[in-house]
Amino acid sequence: MSSSTSAASQALWSRPQAALTGTIDVPGDKSISHRALMFGALAIGETTVEGLLEGEDVLRTAQAMRQLGATVERLGDGQWRLQGRGVGGLCEPDDVLDMGNAGTGARLLMGLLATHPFTSVLTGDGSLRKRPMARVTDPLSAFGATFTGRSGGRLPLAVTGTTAPVPQHYTLPMASAQVKSAMLLAGLNTPGVTTVIEPEPTRDHSELMLRAFGAELTVTDHPDGSREITLVGQPELKGQAVKVPGDPSSAAFPVVAALIVPGSVVTVRNVGMNPLRTGLFTTLREMGGDIRLINQRTEAGEPVADLEVHASTLHGVTVPAERAPSMIDEYPILAVAAACAVGETRMTGVGELRVKESDRFAAMVDGLRACGADTDADGDTLIVRGTGTPPKGGAMIPVELDHRIGMSYLVLGMTTAEPVGIDDATAIATSFPGFADLMRSLGAQITAVEEIA
Ligand code: S3P
Repeated sequence: MSSSTSAASQALWSRPQAALTGTIDVPGDKSISHRALMFGALAIGETTVEGLLEGEDVLRTAQAMRQLGATVERLGDGQWRLQGRGVGGLCEPDDVLDMGNAGTGARLLMGLLATHPFTSVLTGDGSLRKRPMARVTDPLSAFGATFTGRSGGRLPLAVTGTTAPVPQHYTLPMASAQVKSAMLLAGLNTPGVTTVIEPEPTRDHSELMLRAFGAELTVTDHPDGSREITLVGQPELKGQAVKVPGDPSSAAFPVVAALIVPGSVVTVRNVGMNPLRTGLFTTLREMGGDIRLINQRTEAGEPVADLEVHASTLHGVTVPAERAPSMIDEYPILAVAAACAVGETRMTGVGELRVKESDRFAAMVDGLRACGADTDADGDTLIVRGTGTPPKGGAMIPVELDHRIGMSYLVLGMTTAEPVGIDDATAIATSFPGFADLMRSLGAQITAVEEIA
């Protein structure tokens, strides 16, 4: 499996169909899966993981942890076991660490490597090699690490970890759980207290899991909405049993599909409902979406629920900028819902979409327009105007190695008058292996060739 020789591209078409019905599970949470492998590799003793996402991104992290000396074994479907090396115990890899498409894997790993005293080289696929890494390499350099990369710190890059890490007190310049987590991971093997202040709360899986593994970590919510995290360095992390909930960012696709395909009733089981991840569900309900939370419970420290979704008439809303961190990966599929709604939806403060797996801002403006929807950009605001009748479709959309762009347009094609195609579905396996088959099990008509019903 090499990034430079990617599998042959695979075009798919999605065409309108009758109602979607059924009950499904979505794969494990990607953010939690990456972290479970990394913290397991740093813990003393055995860590077991149940429900690990076995998508390409996470498999790259598993491989990197092996290359760094941890024992990482797959026992069965989603069942994994690790023997960790202890904080500071990773060893020099004898080959390049290829993180594939995974921004989270690459950025969190850079944090880890910054305070391990050896040199590693990181690379990734065509999408990851374009993404800005200075947002992590700049603050990680302050620990004492050295990064030698392409302009903007882009991959491939070499990182030489420091032998004498200096604890940091860092305020994030942007809302990014990846940058926050990279700093915390570097702080793990640093004597003293590392503090990270985030202007707006972002997903807190690193904080929750570090505590569960035994780290001394405090979180303070300030009256201005910012959040301060302190971590005491060089803890002894102890292996844990981690249970990974279904990924709300993956559930987003069948949920929106059920809302916009008339007559649908779909239940998605076991969806992670961490409040820092559920902005999409809040927004869809504000739009009039009938999403019922069933069987709400807490599993392994994370809130979980089943979602019963009924097709609904949606109306446009303004999504506040402060909600962006809790739904940052969900704007493409929200834009699809908005194109099927009545009235204008304004997604404010979404400039970060430009530096995801692809420029998602452009991908949604251009792709929705190609499908006949009325979309616009106003600075960092993405605007979609719906008429209540879905756009006509009939376009082939370039995916640019972006799984969520691919899935978003396949969902749109389920309700447009004409099929919608994506030029390459292979990237979908980074986060949602089996997506097309799972949607077919609900009644979706996704085919490799354009077939008109
Ligand atoms: C993630 C954080 C987000 C998100 C990504 C996963 C994480 O990225 O887009 O898919 O697991 O920490 P940013 O930190 O760049 O917002």
